Amino acid sequence: MTSEVNFETMTEFQPTPELNQARQFETEHRTPADQQPAFHLTPAVGWMNDPNGFSSYNGQVHLFYQYHPYANQWGPMHWGHQVSEDLMVWKQKPAALAPDQPFDKEGCFSGTAVSSEQGHVLVYTGCAHGKQNQCLAIGDGKNYVKFDANPILSKSALPQGYSDVDFRDPKLWKTKETWYLAAGIRNPEKKGEVILFSSPNLKDWTYESILLSFDGTNGQMLECPDVFMLEDQPMLICSPQNMHAQGYEFHNGHNSVYVPGHLNQSLETSQFFQNEARQLDYGLDFYAPQTTLLEDGRRVLMGWMSSWSAPILSSSQNWTSQMTLPRELSFRQGRLIQKPIREIENWYKETIHIENIHLDGSYQDRRMSGRYFDMTIQFSKPAHNFVLDLACDVAHKTTFTIDAAKGCMEMDRTYCGMEDDYVAVRKAVLPENGVHELRVIMDLYSIEIFVNEGEMVLSTVLPTPSQADLIVLHGQDEEMTIDFHTMDVEKLRHEKAKVD
Ligand code: FRU
Repeated sequence: MTSEVNFETMTEFQPTPELNQARQFETEHRTPADQQPAFHLTPAVGWMNDPNGFSSYNGQVHLFYQYHPYANQWGPMHWGHQVSEDLMVWKQKPAALAPDQPFDKEGCFSGTAVSSEQGHVLVYTGCAHGKQNQCLAIGDGKNYVKFDANPILSKSALPQGYSDVDFRDPKLWKTKETWYLAAGIRNPEKKGEVILFSSPNLKDWTYESILLSFDGTNGQMLECPDVFMLEDQPMLICSPQNMHAQGYEFHNGHNSVYVPGHLNQSLETSQFFQNEARQLDYGLDFYAPQTTLLEDGRRVLMGWMSSWSAPILSSSQNWTSQMTLPRELSFRQGRLIQKPIREIENWYKETIHIENIHLDGSYQDRRMSGRYFDMTIQFSKPAHNFVLDLACDVAHKTTFTIDAAKGCMEMDRTYCGMEDDYVAVRKAVLPENGVHELRVIMDLYSIEIFVNEGEMVLSTVLPTPSQADLIVLHGQDEEMTIDFHTMDVEKLRHEKAKVD
């Protein structure tokens, strides 16, 4: 058996001209902080898509991301990098990877990270000559050196007949002495699969099995797999491309789903017996989420709060996209429960508590306005006919509706100030027992709505000018209590600006 990858022999970090150029560009073109969200991770400049390498290392939480610093559109993929101590204040680190080697010169695509004794290990997809291979880099939390024998995993390890044209987004983990890697692939019949490999040393990989397969009518490629234990529940998350809508499900084309399954407790066996795939988020903007296990035992998820069909931005912006707020995961009665990271409560500025609201028509409270808030609406009986207008002024509004008679909820951003004909309306089925609680979190250009303590989530972005800051409620015979917390934006920005 060959020995473990020897990180000691890897050359000293020497930034390549491509990496240097990206680092210099992002330093020179930083967007002023007050033009960006305050507590959602955003790139300081350029294009961002999938979260990558979500992990804890050296006392900080690291999030890398698909990144093209030079334009607000997708281009040759780099890995951008930010760190946080509380998952609320995100600080930019220099770009971590640039497409600068023969094995990744067409892009460093998505991947994951593992903290090891030798350093912070990144595994990513290197794209070259139209083919996709899995590659390795190791670093100290700031600078990363690519393994000299990359790629570590390529076509030769694939089962007979499989192609490496769509073979990407490795998820890496270690169990006892064995490394495991799960990746998305399009099989020879053009069906999406997540396949599993094992290795004793990170270099020599053996194909193990198909972890998950979708029939070709729904999801021809499964992107960005994540495999983990949630409490005692084995869980697989992935993002199937090209899905067809079914009822109120899977309206986003490219969707993200979770699949609870049966697997050996410690993720050791290669068999995953899948249950039904369920949608992760019902808003207009959500894709390619990743999870990590925090040191205190919480499993936390972050997704790309955007969509491939409509990556909304206004023409004046030189940056795109935000990540969702980190979400704490749990599993109850077959459902994934997602709650906003609890550290948000440390950043409240003012709190307004309004009891016994009886809504019959429209309602506004002059203390309740703004674009940075965390608001909880508690209904005394399941909401029947309720409308919430956010980010409003005479010309703008984004509307969330509960229509119990039709059995659905709806996000409508038709009047949010979009400059192009993007998808504006998304419907979602009403939870079985109706809606008794809504938690609405807004951070300048995004709205995340957590329904019934995280039973469902709807994430949506909106390019509405910041002056549109009114909140208006409408309804017939609805009884409710509201807790409205404004966020301490100045303090958040002050912390963010501090150099590490
Ligand atoms: C998902 C994805 C990944 C790929 C990356 C490229 O959004 O298509 O499969 O690695 O984006 O940027």
